[in-house]
Amino acid sequence: MTTTLPLEGRSALVTGASRGIGAATARALAALGARCVLVSRREGPLQDLARAIGRGAVALSGDLAEPAAALRVAEAATAALGAAPDIIVHAAGSFPLSAVEAVSDAELDLALSLNVAAPLRLTRALLPAMRARGAGHVVTIGSVADRNVFPSNVAYAASKHAVRAIHETLRAETRGTGIRATLISPAATDTALWDAHDPDGSAHLPSRHEMLRPEDIAEAVAWACTRPVHVDVEELRLARS
Ligand SMILES: NC(=O)c1ccc[n+]([C@@H]2O[C@H](COP(=O)([O-])OP(=O)(O)OC[C@H]3O[C@@H](n4cnc5c(N)ncnc54)[C@H](OP(=O)(O)O)[C@@H]3O)[C@@H](O)[C@H]2O)c1
Repeated sequence: MTTTLPLEGRSALVTGASRGIGAATARALAALGARCVLVSRREGPLQDLARAIGRGAVALSGDLAEPAAALRVAEAATAALGAAPDIIVHAAGSFPLSAVEAVSDAELDLALSLNVAAPLRLTRALLPAMRARGAGHVVTIGSVADRNVFPSNVAYAASKHAVRAIHETLRAETRGTGIRATLISPAATDTALWDAHDPDGSAHLPSRHEMLRPEDIAEAVAWACTRPVHVDVEELRLARS
């Protein structure tokens, strides 16, 4: 007897898929049957992951901090899949740790272009196809910092608060269309995002063993994506117990 997986026949575009939360999410969605388009800058890790998860996964490299990249990625993903993806997971992100007086222009520009503008541009490019289909799911990886602020985290907090505003606006504009939108807001999660900040060596940062695992976040994404179509998971906030 053959069993149908919950996301069989569905497709997912996952940004930030070369490692961390994005990679774990792509693995989880593929294990549930989805065909994934994997997006980040580094082609090698994306291709390795595409091979590992199978199901026709496609590696698509691009620098989402560039204004033109989102549209290019949306068009290439649609061409590779033969249709716009059913699910988008916005997981690419940068994590500057700087105070108001110290934040550099480069940190601020990257936080705003990669964390805020890129997911908005990507959603903008793919939303018309979702509307035409009367279905689609936009999952945004927010952060505990999309509601709470911490010292020396100004550009990141600003970007994640903006991401939540975009998520809520999207929900308001798509209500009743069949399009779902989920914000998943994790606390500190043990990924390479922390490598530059040496969390185990700092009294002000959580140590790695106290953090969530990328798979914890991926499971939450997978859960939201596999609810019956009449259930729209608005927001999940994940903290360490
Ligand atoms: N880890 C945490 O504690 C934590 C907590 C809450 C929320 N989050 C959020 O979760 C998301 C994923 O974080 P993570 O912990 O998995 O981070 P990560 O391990 O550093 O992974 C970041 C991903 O983004 C990609 N990326 C970086 N710059 C890019 C660019 N310019 N264009 C395209 N892709 C780019 C990276 O791949 P390439 O290097 O190949 O481009 C990588 O796949 C982020 O939005 C982050 O803010 C993380």
